[in-house]
Amino acid sequence: MMNVSWSAPSNIALVKYWGKKEELQIPANPSVSLTLSECKTTMNLTLGSSKEKKLVVLFEGKEKPSFIPKIEKFLSLITDELPFLRDYSLTIDSENTFPHSSGIASSASSMAALALCLVDVEQEILGNKHQDFFSRASYFARIGSGSAARSTFAHAASWGEYQGLGHDQRAHQVELHDQLKDLRNKILIIEKGEKKVSSTVGHSLMTNHPYAQARFKQAVSHWQQSLELLKRGNWDELGPIVEREAMALHAMMMTSSSSYMLMKPQTLSAMERIIAFREKTKVPVYFTLDAGPNIHMLYPTSCSVEVEQFFNDQLLELCQDRKFIDDKVGEGPVKNAV
Ligand code: DP6
Repeated sequence: MMNVSWSAPSNIALVKYWGKKEELQIPANPSVSLTLSECKTTMNLTLGSSKEKKLVVLFEGKEKPSFIPKIEKFLSLITDELPFLRDYSLTIDSENTFPHSSGIASSASSMAALALCLVDVEQEILGNKHQDFFSRASYFARIGSGSAARSTFAHAASWGEYQGLGHDQRAHQVELHDQLKDLRNKILIIEKGEKKVSSTVGHSLMTNHPYAQARFKQAVSHWQQSLELLKRGNWDELGPIVEREAMALHAMMMTSSSSYMLMKPQTLSAMERIIAFREKTKVPVYFTLDAGPNIHMLYPTSCSVEVEQFFNDQLLELCQDRKFIDDKVGEGPVKNAV
């Protein structure tokens, strides 16, 4: 019996990964994200010798057979590289800090947590320490879900290759100026529950999308600028890029061959109110969106008092059941004692 446990954070993309060059999440363009602190998955992995059940998946302590096909597929994809998987039965038990079906994607944090557990076990079995432990975990996490590749590092991570910079197969940590390490992310839960078009389908709609090439070019330019602005700590220039990225992502969905819309009326109201508040007060609060209706507000801690007031006055009423999550830039994954 062997037992390991890791907590891995979710991340919020500033420059979005949207579209794949190939199977197994080779991204069509590079992306960069902030690692979150509060939204995370804690996973316990137990390796045993049970002959009957190769894989048991528990979520919050209860068996979850519906999670098995995705994890089985993932494990089958990586078994040649982690051959010890053939010799053991696996029990995976995980829980998220954010509510299930809050509309917050759990694939990034859960696939990162699973990859970290597996690389840790590999290390124990082989008895050698990986110099590139988090990078190797990022590589396996990416095979589970693209955005998960960016969840094995502290602060900020970039993923994707462009002109010899970065890698398609794994993410790496990028420099984040101390001033931006205190960025806050308030997540407005506009609508909970499953989204009607999965990210996987969304990515595939970028193949043959009429605007794909222009979008990938824009993403590269935003990525290059963002890496520089993150390093210099220039939030005033980075904020507008982050908002434009959210708009571009949703514009791609709305203009794909089977067009769809994930924003809700409350999403649009929140966007308009944030822009108007910023214009009026000059408080540098910007928003981004993932592939869903929820709003991620980003702002420096120094503006918390003004933003809290604004949020309570104008945004809380737009959140479903007045639900929101307060998050911030995080320190990356943590190994738990077992
Ligand atoms: C909009 O990583 O969920 O959040 O690789 O198919 O699992 P798969 O997709 P996923 O896509 C995330 C897309 C995004 C942008 C981003 O996180 O970069």
